[in-house]
Amino acid sequence: MLPSQRALFDIPADVCYLNAASYSPLPLAVQEAGRTGVGRKGQPWTLDAGLASRLNERTRRAAAALINADPEDVALISSVAYGVATAGKLVQVTAGYRVLVLQDDHSSPVLEWMTRAQAEGFTVETVRQPYDGDWTASVLAAIARPGAPQLALASIASVHWSDGGALDLDRIAAALRAKGAGLLVDATHGVGVMKVDVQALDPDFLIFPTYKWVLGPYGRAFLYVARRHQGGTPLEQTGFGRRAISAESVPYMKDASYTAGARRFDMGERDHFISMEMAAVGMEMMAGWGQAEVEARLSMLTQRLADGLGNLKDVRLPDPRLRAPHILSLSFPSGMPDGLIERLAAEKIHVAPRLGRMRISPHVYNDEDDVDRFVSTFRRLVA
Ligand SMILES: Cc1ncc(COP(=O)(O)O)c(C=O)c1O
Repeated sequence: MLPSQRALFDIPADVCYLNAASYSPLPLAVQEAGRTGVGRKGQPWTLDAGLASRLNERTRRAAAALINADPEDVALISSVAYGVATAGKLVQVTAGYRVLVLQDDHSSPVLEWMTRAQAEGFTVETVRQPYDGDWTASVLAAIARPGAPQLALASIASVHWSDGGALDLDRIAAALRAKGAGLLVDATHGVGVMKVDVQALDPDFLIFPTYKWVLGPYGRAFLYVARRHQGGTPLEQTGFGRRAISAESVPYMKDASYTAGARRFDMGERDHFISMEMAAVGMEMMAGWGQAEVEARLSMLTQRLADGLGNLKDVRLPDPRLRAPHILSLSFPSGMPDGLIERLAAEKIHVAPRLGRMRISPHVYNDEDDVDRFVSTFRRLVA
């Protein structure tokens, strides 16, 4: 099994950080790339003209590799919300149709549709959080609901950010396809750790940021756009999204038709080479360890957590068959004890409160000692 990679991070020995789902620490190599980039921007006369575009393409390739995409189908964007807004511009939801979202899903894949619904005459239907944790069954039931309006699209996470529930996208995609409906996947908590293969899944859009599981900076994210949507209008109109608009040649706008592929959807000011290289390094590290290896290690750690917490009264664990391998969200039928998150943090154990749950999310820098320390401290504090 992949051993702990803690030595590649800047984590003091007494810190037990179990909160990658909020934001991961940056590996030392990613920090170094950032420092190098800042130094370059400090002395722009040292930059070679091709640097930004080389880094853009390196990062695009690294992102594409994590989801088994052709780099031509991946756009460089800033956030999940940016990707969803782009999709919102590419997809026309017919009046009278519905768009499916998940209850309390992160706001980014939801708000775009809520914002457009009234003016465009469609409805946003929320799939309720299932009592048994089976999001897949609930989404499938919503897709098949007899008498429901026609379905335009499901705009859903592959892993629910608060309860850690994993959705079986293969089954959901097949059910959507059978109804002629589209699929937008917010794969924030999937890419790098769980298998994500856009060629097999064939979503319309799939989006992920770098600052959580793929160990990168804020402000960098990626949008896979299926080829059937690549002829549409981007969110922003940029010169580099066109075939020949160049500051160095006359006429300036020699050919303002769009470039081929997903590059036309790249964000404005994408040539932020500092964060671009940081993002590339983090994703290349993830690919170097390998998704299956990372998943196996994190499954082992969350299973060890579950085993250690299993027989506690007033703490409920999710069904292991229905949760993501790398996230364990504890629920508390009588409420989370007051101040529990803060008392853990006071002992340098960091987890996140999420909608009444305690979300525990280890990454490759965690080891069995971190888990055992969490379990014994948690048991003491809730006793
Ligand atoms: C499921 C999910 N999607 C998206 C995001 C981030 O969205 P954005 O990049 O639009 O800020 C988060 C951050 O917590 C998240 O948990």
